[in-house]
Amino acid sequence: MNSEHIKRAARALNEGALVAFPTETVYGLGADAENPQAVARIYSVKGRPADHPLIVHLSSGEQVTYWAEDIPDFASKLAKAFWPGPMTLILNRTDKAKDFITGGQDTVGVRVPHDEVALALLSEFAELGGRGVAAPSANKFGKVSPTTASAVREELADSLGSEDIILEGAQSHVGIESTIIDCTSEAPRILRPGAITSSMIEEVTGLKLNLNGPAVRVSGSLESHYAPRAAVVLDQEPQAGEGMIALSNMPTPPGVVRLAAPGTTAEYANQLYSALRQADELGLNHVVAFTPTGDEMSLAILDRLQRASSPSRHQ
Ligand code: TXA
Ligand code: MG
Repeated sequence: MNSEHIKRAARALNEGALVAFPTETVYGLGADAENPQAVARIYSVKGRPADHPLIVHLSSGEQVTYWAEDIPDFASKLAKAFWPGPMTLILNRTDKAKDFITGGQDTVGVRVPHDEVALALLSEFAELGGRGVAAPSANKFGKVSPTTASAVREELADSLGSEDIILEGAQSHVGIESTIIDCTSEAPRILRPGAITSSMIEEVTGLKLNLNGPAVRVSGSLESHYAPRAAVVLDQEPQAGEGMIALSNMPTPPGVVRLAAPGTTAEYANQLYSALRQADELGLNHVVAFTPTGDEMSLAILDRLQRASSPSRHQ
């Protein structure tokens, strides 16, 4: 990615346009987090309900204090250990984090992504005086998050304007969205599981996780999300003509279309969304996914698979 492209994209953000950009989790659709009109366009392009809060992306942890206050010690430890990386912290907001970012909640989500293009964009934007880039995953609401620039084009090209930009980058290395950690109570609480796992969080903070259910809205916590057009079922015998996603040690029955055969759970996360997209490209009506077990990444994958397979998505 050449630096002229990045500079042009940073200027576009500054002028109120939208910029889709790669991150290590999934691609994001970014806008200046202080520009209400630009942020409103994110919602209309995605078809997302307006009361769902957005994550503010920063080029470094030092920018957090503009957006958040009363930051507990354990949150600082997490930031130091895992940023840049696939982790979003939910913190008490300052008056700079307006309702159009937080969905009217008293908290704000912040993250420093680990991706060369994303960090270059965020730094250039900061050079221009920008404070942060609000960015949800660059998919239509409820659909599968994109992990490549071409998947972003498929999802959004028709809805973007000529002033908007889609930045090219690597395939997202992690492949599923960041771990979201609520840091507004005595102990960290996971609102969305991801590659930063419970044991990593407990080890770094020295605290036991707060296991109470989330009291805040997380759109990824709606029952139906991350869903392709094809119907996804879990852990059933696939029939000829159906798609199949499973770890590589599971053989493919005759006539079944193998969409992914990852060797590890990290590879499973990395391949999952592109496999679901491929199912739709191939026009498959059914996909059987075998849920991995045995490690903490499996829990994050299971979370996404359960939502992708939720029957309510046909409503
Ligand atoms: O990996 C990721 O987090 C990606 C990349 C682009 O950074 N972003 C992402 O954004 O997944 P989105 O909008 O698709 O999902 C963010 C989730 C939403 O479910 C939202 O409700 C939740 O974060 N969220 C944001 N701010 C919040 C807050 N203040 N309190 C609770 N949940 C919040
Ligand atoms: Mg999303």
